Amino acid sequence: MTTASAPGKIILFGEHAVVYGRPALAVPVTQVRASATVSANSSGGVWIEAPNINLICELSHLASNHPLSAVINSLFSALRISRQPACTIHIESTIPVAAGLGSGAAVSVVILRALSAFLGQPLPDERVNELALEIEKLHHGSPSGIDNSVVTYAKPIYFIKGSPIRPCRVGKAFTIVIGDTGISALTKESVGALRKLWEAEPSHWDKVFDQIGKIVQNARRAIECGETTELGRLMDANHALLQEMTVSSLELDALVESARKAGALGAKLSGGGRGGNMIALVSTEKAASLAEALRTAGAKRTIISTIQSNYRARI
Ligand code: MEV
Repeated sequence: MTTASAPGKIILFGEHAVVYGRPALAVPVTQVRASATVSANSSGGVWIEAPNINLICELSHLASNHPLSAVINSLFSALRISRQPACTIHIESTIPVAAGLGSGAAVSVVILRALSAFLGQPLPDERVNELALEIEKLHHGSPSGIDNSVVTYAKPIYFIKGSPIRPCRVGKAFTIVIGDTGISALTKESVGALRKLWEAEPSHWDKVFDQIGKIVQNARRAIECGETTELGRLMDANHALLQEMTVSSLELDALVESARKAGALGAKLSGGGRGGNMIALVSTEKAASLAEALRTAGAKRTIISTIQSNYRARI
């Protein structure tokens, strides 16, 4: 029997502009996780059990473009497996779906790790990351690759599409509260809507993306130097640009506003937007009361997360 586990993720700065080659910063969220266990079965065939989505099914009965069959089949072809093993892949996840917390990427990563180990050919992180990116392309056409990267490496990263992943050193640990609007939103749709705006007026949007790129560089410096007040200011500035990019929503704006009123140093939407999650930067002492203020303002769930350089990988 083999098993693997991976955290969720949250984007701190630079979502959307990252699709257009600007940098972004993302961190793992270890309070939510996906895991996969692969064991031999005596009934034959590759069985998938995913209780979270009420799925028990043999691989050949899943549509070929289903994300689970896509990840399993892409691994078989990468490892040149011609005779499929008799095994059961059991998948569990506490990562909310379509909420900007990297659920799809985490499920791909754990299946790739647990199944490759079961087949006696455990994949290195680099290869896991490449294959998980291919699956992300099925979820939405032009992913930057940031989601699969932060989930695979489970460390804070400074990410530029197509470049080697760079870790982001955290000079002084800081606390964020993640607030979920409870509204599912497909990244594919917000990315597609912004693409249309960009195609109509590329020079305008390129300037906006450049401003975000500068915010991300300054945020990286602030994180390295432990300048929390500056980091909060940068979050507010990033949110204003995301609003201009039409990827916020009334619900996200309401939670961002409530967070600021409840003492956040800064707040912004996180991920694809138009639903899903927002984040607020806060002193550790105020984190619990800020989370409560967000729930009073309509957040369906909140997570308090401490961002630091070293996460204990639970693989
Ligand atoms: C989604 O988590 C982040 C986006 O920037 C899309 C991407 O980077 O692929 C919106």
